Amino acid sequence: MSIEEAKRLAAFKAVDTFIQDNTIIGVGSGSTIVYAVERLAELKRTKNLNVVCVPTSFQARQLILSNDLKLGDLEQYPKLNCTIDGADEVDKNLVLIKGGGGCLLQEKIIAGYSEKLIIVADYNKDSQHLGDNYKKGIPIEVLPLAYKPIQMRIQEKYRGSATLRMSKMKAGPVITDNGNLILDWVFPTSETFNWDEVNKTIKMMPGVIETGLFINMAHAVFFGTKDGSVKEIY
Ligand code: A5P
Repeated sequence: MSIEEAKRLAAFKAVDTFIQDNTIIGVGSGSTIVYAVERLAELKRTKNLNVVCVPTSFQARQLILSNDLKLGDLEQYPKLNCTIDGADEVDKNLVLIKGGGGCLLQEKIIAGYSEKLIIVADYNKDSQHLGDNYKKGIPIEVLPLAYKPIQMRIQEKYRGSATLRMSKMKAGPVITDNGNLILDWVFPTSETFNWDEVNKTIKMMPGVIETGLFINMAHAVFFGTKDGSVKEIY
């Protein structure tokens, strides 16, 4: 089974399992969520599924609109029933790294105001420990003026390297949907981290907007596997 087929399988299964009629749902970002939106659109066409979709990024907003789904926001719908999103890596305790696509801030906000966060991913994201499979580190969204001292403090405190994410399309750094910068902290995998402590400590650094560590947030994870089945973890 190819990675794309695995993503699709996981996304379809998650939508079929968790999305009910007349609910408010959060729509994540990335490449796997595209298949979940495809399934939502199909259910709308064939079964008249009626859901309001709250996006986690510019990309998600466009996906919702181009699939003719109903768009909402947190002002209209401050309580969401369920958010479906992808992840860059999931460890055995369902701690997630998110933000490979740079959308971690809105993803965490939307997930944080949802009753359930459902993760859809392919088999490459399934790890025992963070860093086993995903080598690009933990994204940290920061205010532009503070990126340098934050970078230095993270490296001094936890080692590894916190690199400013640069754009491949233009000269200069990647700017998030919220006008901020991203540091990708590649942590030393030889060390055992208490992710809750790390997350809280980094979040308290002045100028840090959000981290890509999602702890105690995922209600369920659906992995599309190589053999064509879906591994569900709760
Ligand atoms: C976006 O910023 C991310 O958090 C994505 O949800 C995550 O990177 C998963 O993306 P893929 O589905 O493309 O792997």
